[in-house]
Amino acid sequence: MPDRVRKAVFPAAGLGTRFLPATKAQPKEMLPIVDKPIIQYGVEEALQSGIQNIIIVTGRGKSAIEDHFDVSFELENLLETRGKKDLLAIVRGISDMINVSYVRQKEALGLGHAVLRAMELVGEEPFAVVLADDLIVAETPCLRQLLDVHSVFLAPVLAVIEMPPGAISSYGAIDAEPVHHNGSPDRVYRIRDLVEKPKPSEAPSNLAIIGRYVLTPEIFDSLQTIDPGSGGELQLTDGLRLLLRTRPIYAYRFEGTRYDAGDKLGFLKATVEFALRRHDLGGPFREYLKGLKL
Ligand code: G1P
Repeated sequence: MPDRVRKAVFPAAGLGTRFLPATKAQPKEMLPIVDKPIIQYGVEEALQSGIQNIIIVTGRGKSAIEDHFDVSFELENLLETRGKKDLLAIVRGISDMINVSYVRQKEALGLGHAVLRAMELVGEEPFAVVLADDLIVAETPCLRQLLDVHSVFLAPVLAVIEMPPGAISSYGAIDAEPVHHNGSPDRVYRIRDLVEKPKPSEAPSNLAIIGRYVLTPEIFDSLQTIDPGSGGELQLTDGLRLLLRTRPIYAYRFEGTRYDAGDKLGFLKATVEFALRRHDLGGPFREYLKGLKL
């Protein structure tokens, strides 16, 4: 089995009910943070981490995602004739850099089910999973950090962060022991157990799984074996729990800031902070915010 991770799977078939009515006729992955669709941030992170092969698991009503990563001849032509070189480069950039394949998830039956749909396209090699709702700003892209850990331990690696008390119930939580790595005593953990959306009283720790995973193809066998779990859905966390019986799995407390763009407040926070960081918008936007009577 090759060790190098060449492919990243992006589950994108969810219904986006939290953003209705905005998501009635457009995928939530296409909602923009400032001027870039949420999913593009994730795709760029994969690219910056050295992964060019993108597998997007789509469903009904998601064709805007496919159009977005396609060449748009009419638009490019128009920008070219109008001499808008900067915009042309932006529009061309992303579709030029990635190889993207699509696989359909006919019904939204859970994250584990979505990942399982990518089995044929992934084949017998390690791969990444990116949940684009989790937007991560980091000096070294979060996925790159995970890949570096994977290249040492040659095992599945999940991204985790510490959650404030009470918040853990919205996530997968891990029970784990720290492992010394690269001079740091508490970044890498060896997982003892993991549970999807535990009750606060039953959470094994405050370490929550965040939407970046490096997985090995054995996960597909596990996902084919487990029963639906939390919310009646086939859960990736449950698949990993089964896999844990036969091989070690690690977690990595990555460096960076994570925004939950799948939640309205998180989406707003990301929008404000990403706008403040922009060279073209940051200054005037900061002035505007300072002038608000809050
Ligand atoms: C999914 C996973 C969960 C993880 C979370 C991270 O949950 O099932 O384990 O903690 O993503 O964002 P979802 O947010 O899809 O309910």
